[in-house]
Amino acid sequence: RRLIIERCRAAGFPTVRMRRLRYHPAIRQLVQTVRLDPGRWILPLFVHARSEHRVPISSMPGHDQLSLDALREEIEEVRRLGLGGVLLFGIPDHKDPLGSDATSEQGIICRAIRVIKEIAPELLVITDECFCEYTSHGHCGALGKAGAHDTVDNDQTLRMLGWQAVAHARAGADMVAPSGMMDGMVGAIRQALDQAGFTHVPIMSYSAKYASAFYGPFREAAESAPQFGDRRSYQMDPAAAAEQALREVELDLAEGADIVMVKPATSYLDIIRLVKERFPGVPVAAYNVSGEYSMVWAAAEKGWLDLQRVALEMLTAIHRAGADIIITYWAKQAVKWLKQ
Ligand code: PBG
Ligand code: ZN
Repeated sequence: RRLIIERCRAAGFPTVRMRRLRYHPAIRQLVQTVRLDPGRWILPLFVHARSEHRVPISSMPGHDQLSLDALREEIEEVRRLGLGGVLLFGIPDHKDPLGSDATSEQGIICRAIRVIKEIAPELLVITDECFCEYTSHGHCGALGKAGAHDTVDNDQTLRMLGWQAVAHARAGADMVAPSGMMDGMVGAIRQALDQAGFTHVPIMSYSAKYASAFYGPFREAAESAPQFGDRRSYQMDPAAAAEQALREVELDLAEGADIVMVKPATSYLDIIRLVKERFPGVPVAAYNVSGEYSMVWAAAEKGWLDLQRVALEMLTAIHRAGADIIITYWAKQAVKWLKQ
């Protein structure tokens, strides 16, 4: 062995030492490419139309369903943290087959937007465009007639999405985010917004959204679980070719999407990377979904993982993969950790 080492020395080994850039903390910082920046994070909020002030979401520690009054408190806190914005989900006081609360200007989301704009007009408000929280059957649009294999009527849902987006824009939403994976959803919303005079309102499309088991806790939070069947006839198959995500993104861009999203995030880092590489000039968002949040909490509560370090490492990985923007339930807590 000594002989080998001596021979290597004689040959100049090791002249290249990767560790040289790792000894000094300031050098490590100098060569980082990912820097966590709260201005790139979006916090999802759940607003309900009931009287309870806050209803804790048991599977998502630190998150509650908020009444409009509780939303005021929450916004006061959020505006001080310097986050990129909030993404609103609504739980209406009544559900029906067409999810009519979702398209009404008196619906829960329109009321929530007005509350936020009254107290924090500068805070970016993004609204989710979908129907699963509002429909009695829990699917992401109007039910189709085709039976078991086609749960949602695509083109009727497109019309509804147009009404929903315009209602949100009228109430003051700064950006809309269609999440139902309907074909043509971006084009339909773009056309409806433009006709109503909202040509300046951008669309952040959930372009590559997978039929994922990681949405479990969200469905408790938003009370949006499908009452029968599943979402596999509209959301993507995790086992599909990665290039299918590129086709989805390409179509959304052609229809006028301003920001494209990959969802979930940590099990789909390859997709984030692929989208970023193929469309370098397009802002890419990643949705770090409910299950990705809850499972870290559960492990931390058992003492198996360090909550803070794992959460920040995941956010770093999602940015490193290519996400410019992250929608994340860690947003508030992560800002506080970074300030420590
Ligand atoms: C519904 C919607 C879902 C999420 C965002 N919008 C769930 C679903 O498709 O059932 C998931 C978010 C999360 O898990 O955090 N259109
Ligand atoms: Zn939905």
